[in-house]
Amino acid sequence: MADAVGEKSLLCVPHESHKRIRRLLSDPFSMPSLSKFVQKFDHMLTQKLKKLEESGERFSILQFSMKMIFDAMCNMLVSITEDSLLRVIEKDCTAVSDAMLSFPLMIPGARYYNGIKARQRLMEAFRGMIADRRSGMKTHDDFLQSMLQRDSYPTIEKLDDSEIMDNLLTLIIAGQTTTAAAMMWSVKYLDENREAQHTLREEQLSIAKNKLDGASLTLEDLNKMSYGLKVVKETLRMSNVLLWFPRVALNDCIIDGFQIQKGWHVNIDATCMHFDPALYKDPMQFDPSRFDEMQKPYSFIPFGSGPRTCLGMNMAKLTLLAFLHRLTGSYKWTIHDHDPSLEKKAHIPRLRSGCPITLKALSDGK
Ligand code: HEM
Repeated sequence: MADAVGEKSLLCVPHESHKRIRRLLSDPFSMPSLSKFVQKFDHMLTQKLKKLEESGERFSILQFSMKMIFDAMCNMLVSITEDSLLRVIEKDCTAVSDAMLSFPLMIPGARYYNGIKARQRLMEAFRGMIADRRSGMKTHDDFLQSMLQRDSYPTIEKLDDSEIMDNLLTLIIAGQTTTAAAMMWSVKYLDENREAQHTLREEQLSIAKNKLDGASLTLEDLNKMSYGLKVVKETLRMSNVLLWFPRVALNDCIIDGFQIQKGWHVNIDATCMHFDPALYKDPMQFDPSRFDEMQKPYSFIPFGSGPRTCLGMNMAKLTLLAFLHRLTGSYKWTIHDHDPSLEKKAHIPRLRSGCPITLKALSDGK
């Protein structure tokens, strides 16, 4: 994995340097810092959904979400907004992502080979962006700028260039496919559970009613979406975007009566927990109201747990809430392919169809 995403990536660095890199990356992903991201994302989303509804076009919600998230993240991280450049970078990021769990064969045409070549191009592009910023040719109010502002800080308080570049790539890859898959699953689950869809729409309409026409969503609005948050949680419980996550035991320990020795590799099976009938009554049923009650500790872990918990957890939740608000508060939709088969070879569960839909605007808010 380190060959593709980089050995300084949060996903690959050893325990000792992980803490420092994570601390230095965290600030832009805290709730207050995400406020600007939410507004930009909401603005983009509103315009794109409106265009799609007006055209009557049928579109894959998965492809739509992948593009939306990618564009919004590149804007937040490195201020790229030009579509042709975004598409080139996206193609390379997808090649790197595909190579992450592939067999390391350096043969032209192989997934691994394509990923390594794509990584080289991306690193070159990031290096160019860093040089432009340092020369003063360009400044932006974004994640990259906030990292470079630390140039004069002591070594322990800043990231070096390879740490910045590997983690830029990591953030894009870790954030895009996961959030987009969750968006797609939310559309499918809400379509199959009209009562939940109705309750969610009522909540979103009551929030929209108190806002000026055309005003973007704020963190305050998102905080009011208590049912929306339950829909997000239930979607994440059932879709299990990341099926399992690996850990290495740092010390001998006993968990639930099982002896685990220092150095053992242990896989945490989130799917198994999220569908355990002892933890979730009727686990196959999509029921957001199950989150009316507090969950037992460690029974709900879509973002993992502990020092390696998902860094983009807040960003993902806010993005999903904004998406649900705009979708259910302004539209109804029809799914055109109900085939439940999953994509082969994807390391994240996704519908092979991508969930194609058309939108219809709500008439007089209903
Ligand atoms: C619905 C969306 C998402 C899901 C379900 C998800 C899930 C996860 C999970 C399960 C982990 C592993 C946690 C562990 O090992 O305990 C993880 C790690 C990570 N995620 Fe996410 N994630 C999502 C979105 C995002 C976003 C939007 C970003 C960033 C922009 C992001 C960045 C990361 C990073 C950097 C790590 C590695 C953290 C570390 O090792 O310190 N994720 N994510």
